[in-house]
Amino acid sequence: MTSPKDSALDVATPEAIPGEPPTLVLRDVQASYGDTVVLRKVSLEVPPRAVVALLGPNGAGKTTVMRLVSGTLKPVSGTIVLNGVDVTHMPAHRRASSGVCLIPEGRGIFRSLSVRENLELFRPTSSRDIAVDEVLEVFPVLAARLSQVAGTLSGGEQQMLALSRAFFTKPTIVLVDEVSIGLAPKIVDQIFEILRHLSSEGVSLLIVEQYVRRALELASTVYLLNRGEVVLSGSTQDVKYEDVADAYLR
Ligand SMILES: Nc1ncnc2c1ncn2[C@@H]1O[C@H](COP(=O)(O)OP(=O)(O)O)[C@@H](O)[C@H]1O
Ligand SMILES: [Mg+2]
Repeated sequence: MTSPKDSALDVATPEAIPGEPPTLVLRDVQASYGDTVVLRKVSLEVPPRAVVALLGPNGAGKTTVMRLVSGTLKPVSGTIVLNGVDVTHMPAHRRASSGVCLIPEGRGIFRSLSVRENLELFRPTSSRDIAVDEVLEVFPVLAARLSQVAGTLSGGEQQMLALSRAFFTKPTIVLVDEVSIGLAPKIVDQIFEILRHLSSEGVSLLIVEQYVRRALELASTVYLLNRGEVVLSGSTQDVKYEDVADAYLR
């Protein structure tokens, strides 16, 4: 049996295929922590093989969107559809096997374990395993540091390690939450190269990024979130940098 995930990955061209569902749809999603509502009727769509930027100031609700998509938080109302399948009530571990890979805010690596041990843990136990060596070709910096304790890597190296997770699971969508925060511009360039690489392999990306210009360059669609609501959205060809930057000052 072929899963929607397989069929999406087999497609090398970025053009839409008739009848192909979007990789991700959020429809009127509301989310709360306790009694505090933090997302109000948020709707967004990630087309197949597209890069979508989710931008907005601190506290806007970006990480909350990532949690909803990865399944670690349940919405109060609304629906979440992945590759045409309603996953609103699907638990997080099943969402991972249906093609979602979250690179969480704050890295999500095992700091006290070695680089090699981290890589082994990122590898799913399914038969479609990808060899560690294959992934290391994308991350030569990690190849040179396999026995180093992850917590002693530089910030950039730690972030590379975090990103390597996306190469093990054959995801249809990678959720990237502020991976370049606090890193030097040269390292940020390398991170964006990795994101481009993932995208060129036909993976959809939903990226939360503080580097607004770079995010707008990489993405085809942008959603601007403020105080739990989408206040602006559209093609990155139409949306102006100034309009996005403005929201950060309000
Ligand atoms: N675990 C939590 N418990 C309670 N409130 C939270 C929690 N996580 C986030 N929030 C609140 O939800 C709002 C949105 O947070 P978040 O999604 O992290 O925003 P962003 O990622 O855009 O900075 C903020 O007001 C934040 O304080
Ligand atoms: Mg956040």
